Amino acid sequence: MPDDKSTILVIGTGSIGERHLRCLQRIGRREVAFCEPMEERRADVALRYGIDASLVFPTLDEALSSAEFDCAVVAAPAPFHIPLGRQLAEAGIHILMEKPLSLSLVGVAGFRRLAADRGIVVAVGYVHHAHPAIRGVKEKLDSGEFGRLLEMRFDLGQPLAHFRPAYADVYFADHEMGGGTIQDMITHFYSVGDSLAGPVDRLVTHARHLALPRVEVEDTVHTLASHGGIMASYATNMFQPANEVCVTLNCEAGSLRASYQDRRFSWISEPAGEWQHESFALDDWDEVYIRQNNAFLDAVDGKGSPVVGLESAIRTLSVNVASLESARTQSWQNVSYES
Ligand SMILES: NC(=O)c1ccc[n+]([C@@H]2O[C@H](COP(=O)([O-])OP(=O)(O)OC[C@H]3O[C@@H](n4cnc5c(N)ncnc54)[C@H](O)[C@@H]3O)[C@@H](O)[C@H]2O)c1
Repeated sequence: MPDDKSTILVIGTGSIGERHLRCLQRIGRREVAFCEPMEERRADVALRYGIDASLVFPTLDEALSSAEFDCAVVAAPAPFHIPLGRQLAEAGIHILMEKPLSLSLVGVAGFRRLAADRGIVVAVGYVHHAHPAIRGVKEKLDSGEFGRLLEMRFDLGQPLAHFRPAYADVYFADHEMGGGTIQDMITHFYSVGDSLAGPVDRLVTHARHLALPRVEVEDTVHTLASHGGIMASYATNMFQPANEVCVTLNCEAGSLRASYQDRRFSWISEPAGEWQHESFALDDWDEVYIRQNNAFLDAVDGKGSPVVGLESAIRTLSVNVASLESARTQSWQNVSYES
């Protein structure tokens, strides 16, 4: 650990905040502090991660008035992201913001201006970009070997109640808190799609609640999208037993596939030929967050760029908003991007 170690503040230590805190401790590039308003949770996290009382705070206000931080992770629910982000940017603190950036575009342009004026790094936690299968297909696509991308298919699903038994008692149950499958889950892959095919210009979403008990928000989403003429389909549900992500890219000169469940990415160019595979090991999901968080710290230290930056996350927020509106009105939506 460096002698002159600066301190990173994790804001909110619920499910994902605790993961960030653990990953940042493993990375060891910063002293880790946190703020968490829930007293019992605050004490429990401090104890389990051995964090000194001088680095534990109930609120961001108290943290900012008591100590110095060069960067922060915002891991509170989505309605708080922009207000917390503004407070951090005002203080000149670099930000890794959890997804989604916000619930609507209100306040986003002002936040972008403020961040630019203060010269701070803003990364957004669309962590699937750091997954080895997604990195593998993106690298192959960018090599040009398979020609122009024509069509993408995202086929995703997971048993949310198994992974997160308290799903109905947290933000997921409420659109106004950033919940539902559009804002919580499929948004990750709208973001990946943007990086593979460019921005969405129009989309239509069919979203319904089919199976998850104790919530009314959509647990199943099918989106058809055009990324400047590249056709895409995104399908997911949050109740199927299998935890799966399969992304297929069909290009002029072959196809590429990322498969989380098979732990590999694959490619094929001969008609009716054999897929070729490259496997990867991923024993611990923390590894993906560690890659994302290291890239953020590299950017803060002036040595690289974040995995996903603010502009990309603003585009994905526009897609979330259009997707929700499409599901509500059962109509195609054009996606407009603020400049
Ligand atoms: N990238 C991912 O893979 C991923 C996974 C899960 C959640 N998330 C996102 O992370 C965010 C948090 O999700 P979660 O599952 O950890 O939720 P959570 O409900 O488990 O935890 C949120 C925590 O934030 C705290 N909090 C609320 N308001 C706060 C404030 N103003 N200041 C400080 N702390 C505050 C709460 O007390 C709670 O402990 C959401 O935006 C969610 O979409 C991202």
